[in-house]
Amino acid sequence: MNNKIDGFSKLNKNKKIDWIIKNHFESNNDLKKLLKSYWNSNKNVQKNHDEFAENTISNFYYPLGVAPNFLINNKVFTLPMVTEESSVIAAACNSAKFWFTRGGFKTKVLNTEKVGQIHFLFNGKSTRIKKFFNKNKSKLFSSIKELTKNMNKRGGGLKGLEIINKTDLIRNYYQLKGTFETDNAMGANFINSCLEKLAESFKNLIKDDKDLTANEKKIEIVMSILSNYTPNCLVKATVSCPINNLGPFKNLKAEEFAKKFLMAIKIAKNDKFRAVTHNKGIMNGIDAIAMATGNDFRAIEACAHAYACRSGKYSSLSNAFIEKNNFIFEIEIPLSMGTVGGLTKLHPIVNWSLELLNFPDSKSLMEITAVAGLAQNFAAIKSLVTSGIQKGHMKMHLLNILKQKGASENQKNEAINFFKKNIVSVSAVEDFLKNA
Ligand code: MEV
Repeated sequence: MNNKIDGFSKLNKNKKIDWIIKNHFESNNDLKKLLKSYWNSNKNVQKNHDEFAENTISNFYYPLGVAPNFLINNKVFTLPMVTEESSVIAAACNSAKFWFTRGGFKTKVLNTEKVGQIHFLFNGKSTRIKKFFNKNKSKLFSSIKELTKNMNKRGGGLKGLEIINKTDLIRNYYQLKGTFETDNAMGANFINSCLEKLAESFKNLIKDDKDLTANEKKIEIVMSILSNYTPNCLVKATVSCPINNLGPFKNLKAEEFAKKFLMAIKIAKNDKFRAVTHNKGIMNGIDAIAMATGNDFRAIEACAHAYACRSGKYSSLSNAFIEKNNFIFEIEIPLSMGTVGGLTKLHPIVNWSLELLNFPDSKSLMEITAVAGLAQNFAAIKSLVTSGIQKGHMKMHLLNILKQKGASENQKNEAINFFKKNIVSVSAVEDFLKNA
């Protein structure tokens, strides 16, 4: 292999690009031009972005769009959404409008607890380490006072610490499980700092303990890290209306629509293959808000899918039912999100998105995000059980194909008209352009 390099991170951006092109591409100046054309002309803006990650060589654009008309707890919001999928924002807008005249979305944060774990190995009787832990628990809390004092002032901090015997899973394996409140921060840095300090204090207290034997003192801290699974950081979003207010749709009466919708949910609850796609549609909305507001969408995704398995079987994250002639559609989802820290101040567009939402606290952002997920899911199921998904998708797809094929504005308008009544495919568009 001749393209190994030491000290790559020390090269400046131009040199990094030169090295990449020389080592990974046929020599070609346009490749450098392309990357540089995405540099921001404002040097300060570019520097800001360069510093977010190691080895930045350019920017990777994603569209930022907005979805107006979201009535949430009687207030109207315009949601910022970052997504590359052409139909996502259109679907959000569609759902928002639909529910605007039907009472809008209602939400509630059920709890906001975060979790962190210290994973360790102890070779001895579990009663011995439990006794030691109970004797030293308050000392462990005190040992992180410095780290938690600011968070405590905001009502957050370490709220609970317990020892858990996991030796049924792995020989000698235990955990210290901490539960945290992190106010408006997502809290990853805060929790990880607390855990590392707690682990160090735990080790020191063990070393100085008079009761534990030398063998018992050979405890091994494997790792200390927050858990992105936060089943007690939960938010619920709901929409409801009398069944007969749901429709009619072109090919369905309101009652038939409700019946089909409920069946779609039932299928997603029971069939894993459908459930994954169903939940993916929900995440289309959730990730778009998470990205726009600078939240960690990977953590949110991982947590959501684990939560979807909480019964032991992967299932739908949303639910629908009929109660006293009312159609009720809801989602309950763990969303660990922050509106301070992380990218929130550093990334100007993230800050802009938060301002668009009137600088929500983390609970409000959880609510807005859950609504985006529910709205997206409603739009998807509505299309699926009425016209089918391709009708809406294909319109956007058509525009993408036309762009790829370099169609003129005139050809675009003619194609949009033509494909209202004809099926979109790459070859159909090619044929159309040949004859246009
Ligand atoms: C596409 O990104 C999302 C959908 O497949 C979701 C669904 O099927 O429910 C339309």
